Parts: sequence; C-alpha cells; structure tokens
Amino acid sequence: MKRLLERLFPPRPPLLRAATAADIPHLAAIHARAFARGWEVDEFERLLADRAVRAHVAAAGPRRGPVGFILSHVVPPEAEILTVAVVTDRRRRGIGRALVGFHLARLASEGVTTSFLEVEAGNAAARTLYTRMGYREVGRRRGYYAGGGDALVMRRDF
Ligand SMILES: CC(C)(COP(=O)(O)OP(=O)(O)OC[C@H]1O[C@@H](n2cnc3c(N)ncnc32)[C@H](O)[C@@H]1OP(=O)(O)O)[C@@H](O)C(=O)NCCC(=O)NCCS
Repeated sequence: MKRLLERLFPPRPPLLRAATAADIPHLAAIHARAFARGWEVDEFERLLADRAVRAHVAAAGPRRGPVGFILSHVVPPEAEILTVAVVTDRRRRGIGRALVGFHLARLASEGVTTSFLEVEAGNAAARTLYTRMGYREVGRRRGYYAGGGDALVMRRDF
C-alpha cells in the first residue's frame, strides 16, 4: 500500500538547508536509530554551538522536520565529516547523495579544499555513498571500532 501511494504521489525532492536549534531533537532521534551509540540532545547542542561545526539537513518540506543530516568540523582548508544519516524509510532515494553534495558545496564556498572522513569498513551503504561522491581510501585503522571492525580513512579534494 505504501509503495502504491508512493508511486501515485512521489515524494518531493528534499529541501536542503542549514540546521537550526529547532532541528536538534530530530537529529538526536535520527542518529539514535542509525548508530549503535546515539548522540544525546546535549551533544548536538554542543556541536551546533561550536563555531567550527557546519550542519545541514534534508527536510521533507519547508515546515517539516529533517529526514537526514550531515555535520562537519571545519578548519579551512580542511574539513572532516563527523556524521551523516538518513531516516530508515527514506534511504536509497538519493537523499544521502544530495546532502553530501550540498554540504561540500557550502564548505567549498568558505575555502575548504579537502574533506576527510572515517567509515567502518563493513558499512557498505556509507562506503558506496562516499565513493560515488568522489572520496578515495587513504588509510585504514585496524580494529578501530568496539566490535573489532576496521576504520577506513577517506579523502576528497575539491
Ligand atoms: C549511508 C546513508 C547516509 C546513505 O543515505 P541514502 O539516502 O540511502 O543514500 P543515497 O540514496 O543517496 O545513495 C547513495 C549511493 O549509495 C548507494 N547505497 C545506498 N545504500 C546502499 C546500501 N545499503 N548498499 C549499497 N549501496 C548503497 C546507492 O546505490 C547510491 O549510489 P547510486 O546513486 O550511484 O545508486 C544511510 O544508509 C544511513 O543513514 N546509514 C546509517 C548511518 C551511517 O552509516 N552513516 C555513515 C557513517 S560514516
């Protein structure tokens, strides 16, 4: 039924914008569902108050809450993606790609020329997303994650 409704009334492309304080409860909720260790509301408050952090969201419409978000720590000319997540029932529709593209364009406009990130080697969705967005593997930290997984360090030069 859901699939039929989506075919009849395809969802509009997400609205991409800077995150605001009003988004914080949504960001914490999305993060908690996406990762084994969710970040609390106060962690997001601290991050959004940090002058070196840039946060963007994808929302389903002008008065709708976020369905995905991305955060980077920025010290031009370098930046590091801290996290990116999309709500489970909106994945694989290009939102992650749109978010990364929008975010990197904003960072480039303030003088960033290189973006780094760390991703768990077994996270196929995130690795594909980053590879499609032009990142390449530049290092590996063996057994970095609590479950024993390796961390890949990836880099994209603009
Ligand atoms: C990673 C994540 C943000 C991707 O968001 P998304 O909106 O589903 O991504 P997109 O639909 O834009 O897909 C981007 C690319 O990745 C690929 N992809 C997405 N999910 C995939 C999966 N589960 N397996 C393999 N490839 C996948 C898509 O095919 C797409 O490539 P294409 O456009 O060339 O076909 C999302 O899966 C997520 O929130 N995961 C949990 C949080 C997480 O792991 N974040 C990354 C931490 S480093």
